[in-house]
Amino acid sequence: MPEAAAKTKADYWMADLSQAVDCTVMARGVEVVYEMGSEKIHALQGVDAQIFTGEYISIMGPSGSGKTTFFNVVGGLMKPSAGSVYIDEIDIAQLDAGELAWLRCRKIGYIFQSYNIVKVMTALENVMLPMLFAGVPQDEAQNRAVEILTRVGLGDRFLHTPKELSGGQQQRVAIARAFANKPAIILADEPTANLDLHTGEEIIALMKEMNREEGVTVICSTHDHKMLDISDRIMWMEDGRVKKLARRDEVDIKIDEFEEENKA
Ligand SMILES: Nc1ncnc2c1ncn2[C@@H]1O[C@H](COP(=O)(O)OP(=O)(O)O)[C@@H](O)[C@H]1O
Ligand SMILES: [Mg+2]
Repeated sequence: MPEAAAKTKADYWMADLSQAVDCTVMARGVEVVYEMGSEKIHALQGVDAQIFTGEYISIMGPSGSGKTTFFNVVGGLMKPSAGSVYIDEIDIAQLDAGELAWLRCRKIGYIFQSYNIVKVMTALENVMLPMLFAGVPQDEAQNRAVEILTRVGLGDRFLHTPKELSGGQQQRVAIARAFANKPAIILADEPTANLDLHTGEEIIALMKEMNREEGVTVICSTHDHKMLDISDRIMWMEDGRVKKLARRDEVDIKIDEFEEENKA
């Protein structure tokens, strides 16, 4: 790891607000209504948010506040009932099926709470998979998979399948897979929720390192207060709305109070 990680755009933004900043994701009035029989559930009720290139933003909020739904909409996995999501200034609702597939495969890396790696494949095969989908030649995909698995600390676990790996190691495979195609954005939905405290801390540190070294925008939902300190900004959700969006250095509350306030 280099001693002084390269400055990301988020660093410049943090340092000088007058500086122009690229915006990777913009949500405008996003609403999602789930229909269950005759019942309508308003999961997102007009979410506006701008997410800057290279920043690490944590999304916090109680269970049911709409975090996963927000991820699904931003990640192009679900269409909003109203409003728009722009990625690099392109309204993703305007993309055709092929373009949307490209976006999901090349531009965004997904990390889930339950790892979602393929059980019958080795770590190496799991990390190669999105590259093969993207048309990267086999040799090149294998070299990159070896490189990135080594990078996440699994240099001696290439040929292990998920059942031969711990939860933390499986999540490292998922992180390697998410970074395989050098995405611009990482969407991580409660990536540490199934991990013990220590392993969760290691996973967070790894995501932060990758964020800084690769200049990737990381959007990470969590219940975990440890995420606060490494975040550039924190967005709180409540009842499908953005309750607050603040820079880490503006958040002047103690962790205990914070936990009390944000009990899941
Ligand atoms: N597929 C679904 N069908 C119906 N309701 C859903 C579905 N997914 C989520 N919801 C509801 O939408 C709201 C937001 O859920 P979710 O986005 O999963 O919140 P969070 O990730 O913050 O826990 C909740 O009330 C939840 O019950
Ligand atoms: Mg969720």
